Amino acid sequence: MSGDVPGRLSYHLSIDGTQRAVTGARLEESLLTVLRERLDVTSVKDACEQGRCGACSVLLDGRLVTACTILAADAADARVVTVAGLGPGGPAAAVRAAFVAHGAVQCGFCTPGLVVAVTDLLARRPGADEEEIRETLAGNICRCTGYGRILEAVRAVQAGRGGLAGRSGPARRGGRTGLGGAAGQDGEAGRGDQAGRGDSPGWA
Ligand code: FES
Ligand code: FES
Repeated sequence: MSGDVPGRLSYHLSIDGTQRAVTGARLEESLLTVLRERLDVTSVKDACEQGRCGACSVLLDGRLVTACTILAADAADARVVTVAGLGPGGPAAAVRAAFVAHGAVQCGFCTPGLVVAVTDLLARRPGADEEEIRETLAGNICRCTGYGRILEAVRAVQAGRGGLAGRSGPARRGGRTGLGGAAGQDGEAGRGDQAGRGDSPGWA
C-alpha cells in the first residue's frame, strides 16, 4: 500500500481472483464504495450503507461480510469474492437455479447478496436447519418476495432438487410470508450475530 498523495492511498484488491489496482482512494472509503465507484463492480449492491440490509454481502477471505462496513484499505491483503466470483457451477449454480425455479427473484436487487449468503451457508452447513437458514436470511432484506419462496429455494438446494422439478407448488405472487420465528418477522427482523457479518442492530 502506498500514499503518495497526502490523505490518499493506492493499493491492490483481489476481486474474484483478479488483482485490481486502486489509486488515490481516501482512507475512509468502504469496500462497497471502492468496488462500485472505482472498480465498476456493480453486482455488489448499495442500499443502506449501514450493514443492515445485506445487499452488499461478499466473502472476505471466506468470511461473509457486508462490504459497506469494511474499509477497502483493510481488504488490501484479503481475497474478496462477489456473487460473480462464486463460479459458474458448483453450489452457487444450484442456489441460482433454485432461486429462479422457485420464484425467489423478483426485482433482483437483493439477489446477489442473498446468493452469496446462502451459498456460504450451504457450503459451511449443508444440512442447516430451519433456524439457521432463517438466521442467515435475516441478514438480507428482500422487499419483494416475502421470503417464503427464498426459503423454498434453499430447502430445494438442500434436497438436491433446486430446479423446476423440485418445485412444491405454483409460484405465489403477491403477499409476504415473512420469516417469523427466531429470525424475526418480515420487515423487522434483526440480523443477530451471524458469522462474518457486521453488527446489525435491526432492520431500518
Ligand atoms: S448496503 Fe451494505 S448492508 Fe446494506
Ligand atoms: S427481489 Fe426485490 S428486493 Fe428481493
